[in-house]
Amino acid sequence: MSCQHFSQHEHGAKSFTVVMPKITFGRGCLAEIGARAKARDFTRVALFTDPFLRNGPYFDTAVTALQASGIDVAVFSEIRIEPDDNTIIAAAEFLRDGQFDGVISVGGGSTMDTAKAGMVYALYPAEFTDYFGPPVGAGKPVPGPLLPHIACPTTSGTGSECTSVAVIRINALNTKFVVGSPHMMPSEALVDPACTDTLAANVVASTGYDLLCHALECYTARAYAAWDYIPDPNKRTLLQGSNPWSDMSARTALEIIRDYLVRGVTDQTDREARDQLMWGATLAGMAFGNSGTHLPHAMSYGITHLMDNITTNDYQVTSPFVPHGISVMVCAPAIFRYVAEGAPQRHLSAAGFLGVNAKDATPSDAGEIIAEELIQLMRRTNGPNGIGGVGFNVEDAKDLAASAVRQSRAIQNAPRIVERQEIENIFSSAVSYW
Ligand SMILES: [Fe+2]
Repeated sequence: MSCQHFSQHEHGAKSFTVVMPKITFGRGCLAEIGARAKARDFTRVALFTDPFLRNGPYFDTAVTALQASGIDVAVFSEIRIEPDDNTIIAAAEFLRDGQFDGVISVGGGSTMDTAKAGMVYALYPAEFTDYFGPPVGAGKPVPGPLLPHIACPTTSGTGSECTSVAVIRINALNTKFVVGSPHMMPSEALVDPACTDTLAANVVASTGYDLLCHALECYTARAYAAWDYIPDPNKRTLLQGSNPWSDMSARTALEIIRDYLVRGVTDQTDREARDQLMWGATLAGMAFGNSGTHLPHAMSYGITHLMDNITTNDYQVTSPFVPHGISVMVCAPAIFRYVAEGAPQRHLSAAGFLGVNAKDATPSDAGEIIAEELIQLMRRTNGPNGIGGVGFNVEDAKDLAASAVRQSRAIQNAPRIVERQEIENIFSSAVSYW
């Protein structure tokens, strides 16, 4: 590769891999779910959705289309936002008892992740933490294939339809952690932006922050060629660092944020903006499913681990709850301000994709330029003012850092090496921005 960012390191990876589901994108494509399932010879499907969507039109569209194609449907809707181990165990029992030949998920990241992880434990029962990576779990590989899965996202952020991971809260540890396997990649995705037409502004903002951070983290992640070479291709992970594929998707996703995030949040009738944000979320999912994220996601686990007595508007859940996108975004300006030094040109390019005129900037300006652009986007979309805006203060930085350091692989994917002390310093500088 000609790009300096990907130049070969002495012991570095020599190749990168791209894995993707079949994707259909466009208004109204959810109604094709019956024909799509029929083409896969599904006769009886497990349909995952959440309790709120179950009473709404998108769920009806899916069920009607499936039944019109002669497919038996059994529904699992006991899904909490940010699924926990109890949700996954219940989903696994439902799948195990159901004689299904296919799985369909209609919902946000929580629903798609429940379908993915539920299949793992239905087909390959184990101690719950066995398939989670260390230090939380034993890091055992998922032994074999899951059922074919058609994922239908209803929010414009998660990108889970394009990734082979699920994020699950483990109650005994009071924290979320990632379980991943190539077998968890959905077979197919139907991405219908009409499903986002009724989303509240706060939800479009939060999911938009998630999409923004996916794209920006992928674009600025450590290069794949800087990770150690692993001779056995079956032992390599898709958290492989930035690469030309993830760059391509991330760049367009950042340009979509530039043009449509504020419009999509501030005007619920702006269909063009909502369509574009949905496409951006899928693109950013394609990127991070093949590169991995880094510090904003790693540090968000500290936020959701230690949050207390907080609920964000427009989410029908009990306290404490900070939406994933907000938990990722609140530290992002402070993080990029610090790590840009590790790859300044990349950060200046990313700022350019977000619409900043950085032509005369020097490498030492990169961190401040990207941080300022993120802060402006947060302000224009009514975002919280740093971690102080979701209930933390500077005294919490030590505990937040202690929790975040468990996400070791994502931390190593950052463009600059950070240890626990640097992470604590970043939390301290993320308390407020304006
Ligand atoms: Fe995310």
